[in-house]
Amino acid sequence: GSRSSGTGGGRSGALSPSPVVEEVHRIDVNPPKGTRDFPPEDMRLRNWLFNHFREVSWLFGFEEVDYPVLESEALFIRKAGEEIRDQLYCFEDRGNRRVALRPELTPSLARLVIQKGKSLSFPLKWFAVGQCWRYERMTRGRRREHYQWNMDILGIPEVTAEAELISSIVTFFKRIGITEADVGFKVSSRKVLQEVLRCYSVPENLFGKVCIIIDKIEKIPIDEIKRELNATGLLEEAIEELLQILSIKSLTELEEILGGAGEAIADLKQLFSLAEKFGYSEWIQFDASVVRGLAYYTGIVFEGFDREGKLRAICGGGRYDRLLSTFGGDDVPACGFGFGDAVIMELLKEKGLLPELSLEVDNIVCALDKDLEGVAATVATKLREKGQSVDLVLESKPLKWVFKRAARTNAQRLILVGNTEWQKGMVVVKILSSGEQYEIKLDELE
Ligand code: HAM
Repeated sequence: GSRSSGTGGGRSGALSPSPVVEEVHRIDVNPPKGTRDFPPEDMRLRNWLFNHFREVSWLFGFEEVDYPVLESEALFIRKAGEEIRDQLYCFEDRGNRRVALRPELTPSLARLVIQKGKSLSFPLKWFAVGQCWRYERMTRGRRREHYQWNMDILGIPEVTAEAELISSIVTFFKRIGITEADVGFKVSSRKVLQEVLRCYSVPENLFGKVCIIIDKIEKIPIDEIKRELNATGLLEEAIEELLQILSIKSLTELEEILGGAGEAIADLKQLFSLAEKFGYSEWIQFDASVVRGLAYYTGIVFEGFDREGKLRAICGGGRYDRLLSTFGGDDVPACGFGFGDAVIMELLKEKGLLPELSLEVDNIVCALDKDLEGVAATVATKLREKGQSVDLVLESKPLKWVFKRAARTNAQRLILVGNTEWQKGMVVVKILSSGEQYEIKLDELE
């Protein structure tokens, strides 16, 4: 077939130059520090990851929710001295309201649950995948925006909820090829600390603050930790016992120190027994040093870690039975986790487990003559109505270009609309993997 050498290409030539000459500021083409663009190849990976988040959540019978990225600043202000507070992206909007980009999703969940009140039927099993903002010091896997997969169960006071949540994360890991040799979960309960503090008659309202200080143990010198604990009013003796307990890595040893009667031991024992039934015992271990950095956790806390110890926590969560009352609502037993998109990607890269994803279209459709562009459009519409994807060539291009394009888009079939065949009402179909070629009537295209 003969084809016209496309001349009507450049549209810009048709525009008359603007009479106002504006000064040109060459912009910085990088996104703001700590944030990311998602060009197609990265977006494919992100979608792949998020699809797994969603599919696993559905496997566990969870419903998807979302909240605004912008919330009232007040939602995120807690007095316990959390890192997250100092990392807040907050500002005053044009209506003089103090607002913040959400650093996490849990306060929004609490707000929505309070708002919906009695119309909700418990237990709630909710999941969300959303972007969170924290002005962090950047390290590997830590950035200023990240996406977090959250699963939360509200209305269940029993450890069965925590066990179910960990099971869902294990299911996720298995699906993407991560095994118990690569990662594990460290589990503890804040009730361990609570029991120790009670022995020393430390007031309950200091609990959150003490947890936040202890969470920093691996980041700042131990003397500084002791000084901070001392400043809350804790006695030397209590501090020493706390620090000693935090080094315990076995439940039996903990039981010897705390005695078998407390809730902490009972909860943890139940969790480990359930882990067996769920089938993920090899994934979890007790570690008293896990407290997590958020003030609202009240019971079991856990974090996912890479066994090589190269990366920061992969995910983290726990029970927060008293968060709703801090917002003036009625408390509901609750637990959940947040799982970021950054550390897991680093781990997958490290393990060579990132999938090779490329653009794949079913068909590339091209008119060999400018006059046949309309027919090519009809062909494309017919195929798309049948659910087939079509990369329609939108300007006159030489065949060589079309083949190159087909290779880049991994098209399975090339459909050419040429004069000779179209006079018979036919188009040419070429199977690109085999080179097989045939002519077919328009309404016989499957
Ligand atoms: P979190 O421990 O602050 O918990 O964060 C959970 C996870 O989010 C982390 O383990 C990590 O995967 C990811 N993450 C946090 N900050 C960053 C960052 N700057 N860059 C990359 N990834 C990050 C929470 O946010 C709780 N709201 C989770 C939760 C839900 N607890 C109960 N329900």
